[in-house]
Amino acid sequence: SSDNRAVMAEAHELLAKLFHHYLLNTEQGLKALDYLKGRGFSDEVISRFQIGFAPDSWDSATNFLSRRNFSLELSEKAGLLGKRDFDGKFFDRFRNRIMFPIWDKNGKVIGFGGRILDSGEPKYLNSPETLLFNKGKNLYALHLSRPEMRKKQQAVLFEGYVDTIAAWRAGVENGVATLGTSLTEDQAKLLKRNVPSVVICYDSDHAGVEASFRASSILLKAGCNVKIAKMPDGLDPDDYIQKYGAEKFNRDVIGASLTVMAFKIQYYRRGKNLNDEGERMLYIEEIIKEISQLPNAVEKDHYLRQLADEFNLSLEALKQQQFYTAKQQK
Ligand code: CTP
Ligand code: MN
Ligand code: MN
Ligand code: MN
Ligand code: MN
Repeated sequence: SSDNRAVMAEAHELLAKLFHHYLLNTEQGLKALDYLKGRGFSDEVISRFQIGFAPDSWDSATNFLSRRNFSLELSEKAGLLGKRDFDGKFFDRFRNRIMFPIWDKNGKVIGFGGRILDSGEPKYLNSPETLLFNKGKNLYALHLSRPEMRKKQQAVLFEGYVDTIAAWRAGVENGVATLGTSLTEDQAKLLKRNVPSVVICYDSDHAGVEASFRASSILLKAGCNVKIAKMPDGLDPDDYIQKYGAEKFNRDVIGASLTVMAFKIQYYRRGKNLNDEGERMLYIEEIIKEISQLPNAVEKDHYLRQLADEFNLSLEALKQQQFYTAKQQK
């Protein structure tokens, strides 16, 4: 009910404040603060993104909520507490983790992402789906980045919290992130309602590149102009900024982002010897398949011509092949 949602929202708001306080003002928070400082998080960043720390305790949040007369049953349904099977006792869901509040589009806290301090699994423990928190319908930091998104008429889409924050520090203030899942149609529509263009800036590992292809097709379907940013192998935006600095990130990554097709052309060419007939045919097939998925006939024509010119093939043959490939995929 809407009453329950309001109570859940209030519990989130108060816990976000509590975690923030634990991080900044307690003995226990020091190691988390050290960790964050070591990763370049300034006081300004910690405050802007309301970053916090959930202490290494089974009952801090539980007692806090209980003292404030929140129903623990409801707090468990809100994903803030766990409940032991054998005796029904409630306990803190987030323990010994750096806490990133997740807001809805209006800036209300609706969930948390909790990062472990050292290595360990899971690296991130996120709030579950609740009455309040629907992962596929929200984007991290949207309400913070919206003014800059509107100004630039563009959003930058990251994989996670840390990259969004690192980019903000580097002057890219129009960033948002998906919430530990792949981009959904709802999220694409949400972006489209705010900006005409989206730059995808995912990790440059294999999983990130694959995910950026999937995201690009969802964004194109939602009617966005889409570009993909490229980084050297394996790095994520935060790694890249640490290694090469803010200026280079703005110029050589965000500023040099490529249209989806240009990105894919580079991607499919990598490691292929196009003088080899077999590899050349494979490449042409891959590109035709991509062309067949383009929504726009003029674009299709453009890239087919480019392919025909480069490999001295007949445009007619390529068109036929494209038509055939498109039909097969229906
Ligand atoms: N993620 C998640 N659960 C995991 C791993 C990842 O929800 N077990 C989500 C988080 O939102 C995370 C994003 O996916 O921010 C990207 O994951 P990854 O690249 O592994 O983490 P980083 O953002 O690079 O985090 P860090 O730099 O702190 O390692
Ligand atoms: Mn990743
Ligand atoms: Mn693969
Ligand atoms: Mn990463
Ligand atoms: Mn990272």
